[in-house]
Amino acid sequence: MQINQSYPLVRKRRLRDSSAILSLVCENKLTTDDLIYPMFVIEGKNKKQDIKSMPGICRLSSDLLLKEIERLVTIDIKAIALFPIISQNKKSLKAKEAYNQQGLIPQTIKEIKKNFPHILVITDIALDPYTIHGQDGIIDNKSYVLNDETIQVLVQQALCHSEAGADIVAPSDMMDGRIISIRRALEANNFPLTKILSYSAKYASSFYGPFRDALNNSENLGKANKNTYQMNPANSDEALYEAGMDIQEGADILMVKPAMMYLDIVYKIKQNFKTPVFAYNVSGEYSMIKAASNAGFLDEKKTVLETLLSIKRAGADAILSYHSKDVALWLNQP
Ligand code: PBG
Repeated sequence: MQINQSYPLVRKRRLRDSSAILSLVCENKLTTDDLIYPMFVIEGKNKKQDIKSMPGICRLSSDLLLKEIERLVTIDIKAIALFPIISQNKKSLKAKEAYNQQGLIPQTIKEIKKNFPHILVITDIALDPYTIHGQDGIIDNKSYVLNDETIQVLVQQALCHSEAGADIVAPSDMMDGRIISIRRALEANNFPLTKILSYSAKYASSFYGPFRDALNNSENLGKANKNTYQMNPANSDEALYEAGMDIQEGADILMVKPAMMYLDIVYKIKQNFKTPVFAYNVSGEYSMIKAASNAGFLDEKKTVLETLLSIKRAGADAILSYHSKDVALWLNQP
């Protein structure tokens, strides 16, 4: 970009002296079209549990979840992402509950689709809620997460969710080759329109802590980490390679996760591939702003709107955020 004129011919502040002119030259705008709301579902009826590290977010049983969705629809939220809390007695080494058609997620999807056929339902394809050790896959006797064995279970899980009516399956596990395996299985089983939202660049991040609390998974995982499959936060070329592979393997939309600390990755993937990119404004990012706002250190509404707008400006087409409900309410009442 070459700039030949300078001050005083150019005064950039001319375009900042009224809200009217600011709105005419505004480059990016956040709307309810950009929002996806992640939700935690628990077994049982009429159950609502607060999540200590995520003020304002609850685990809900499916009956209460439906009531919440009814409210979400009225404030123009068009998509939700479901995460299950699985009771310890249903967890296993082989994660069989992950593809039980009578299980919590498939049953919840069916109820949602019966009552709200138009809301997009995104489900997480990963085994961590279902394994006793809290890893996203099947492990060997040295606790190493096995790639190809895990993919076989992920494929069953993706088919099970599609069968139940999920619109979008979102593999968040980072196994190599899971996208092509899931895509082939969806094609072979007559689900040609099920969309795959691939967590292409999912980093081994400390910002997932509150989410693991929400799933009651922190104890299962113990001191172990996910560094043998999630990406090293130091790398960005690698994210482009992962994204390219996922597109070739049949992903429809790519995801970058976390979002706030990884805006460069969102930008690069969008610039390079010109394909839909979503960003996951994860639990720890939510908790940080919530905690600072609750302490009176930050203005919550302004900080959240600036954060989500920045994620959009970096190139995200949509944002998964625990702030989505608040944001939709704020955008509805200017
Ligand atoms: C696991 C999964 C995680 C999140 C979504 N899916 C956590 C992890 O990888 O341990 C984190 C989301 C968040 O922090 O909000 N498949």
